[in-house]
Amino acid sequence: MRRSLVAANWKMNGSAESIAELLGALRQSLDGFAAADVLVCPPMPYLDLCGRLLEGSAIRLGAQNAHEAPSGAFTGETAVSMLQDFGVSHVILGHSERRQLFGETDAQVVAKCVAAQEQGIEPVLCVGETLQEREAGQAEAVVARQLKAVLDVCAPENLVVAYEPVWAIGTGQTATPLQAQQMHAFIREQVAARSTEVADSMRILYGGSVNAENAAQLFAERDIDGGLVGGASLKPTEFITICKSVSG
Ligand code: PGA
Repeated sequence: MRRSLVAANWKMNGSAESIAELLGALRQSLDGFAAADVLVCPPMPYLDLCGRLLEGSAIRLGAQNAHEAPSGAFTGETAVSMLQDFGVSHVILGHSERRQLFGETDAQVVAKCVAAQEQGIEPVLCVGETLQEREAGQAEAVVARQLKAVLDVCAPENLVVAYEPVWAIGTGQTATPLQAQQMHAFIREQVAARSTEVADSMRILYGGSVNAENAAQLFAERDIDGGLVGGASLKPTEFITICKSVSG
């Protein structure tokens, strides 16, 4: 039985004040919540604040990116070992915004996943096709390529995969539960070709315009083990509803 995970990707949003308020509300409703793991991924400068605000809470702390090198002349970057100092358990890697806006390649994503796993931080590997790729019938091929790059090198048992169709991110256009389920089943098959045991236990999250209205239907699908939530994770009531939408 896979334990659901609901992860909040706050992206580049928030202030010390708004984050304290948001975490206060989440703790009030979710500290005793046992049905799923909950993860919040704030912008880097707030990791320390969030770590302190989450002391004694089961809500986990994640990061939105990391650099693959252990240290060095990489102005503006953050090493995985630095994340460790703040009690980070997960790091989002290969998000489509990183791939599209910052030119991250599969090879870089792989290197980051390796670095994270070496430090005991679990990657939340994002995969997903663009609308153009979907319309050209290449959705599965794209996802398979992104996944293979990482599975060829990384330990699959310490990996969360997030299927995030690029056309659904921040657009309000969610994949239908069927579309999402089909891709999740495809992803699980790719993993099963290497190890059925790992495939059975791997958490595969759906991301892309998840909200309080559509979460329960998406999470009810057999191969959807929770969500990676962007915009809606900034609204406490909505995010709490999404967390409570996990299927038993
Ligand atoms: P969204 O973002 O929920 O705002 O679509 C999801 C994500 O990018 O992780």
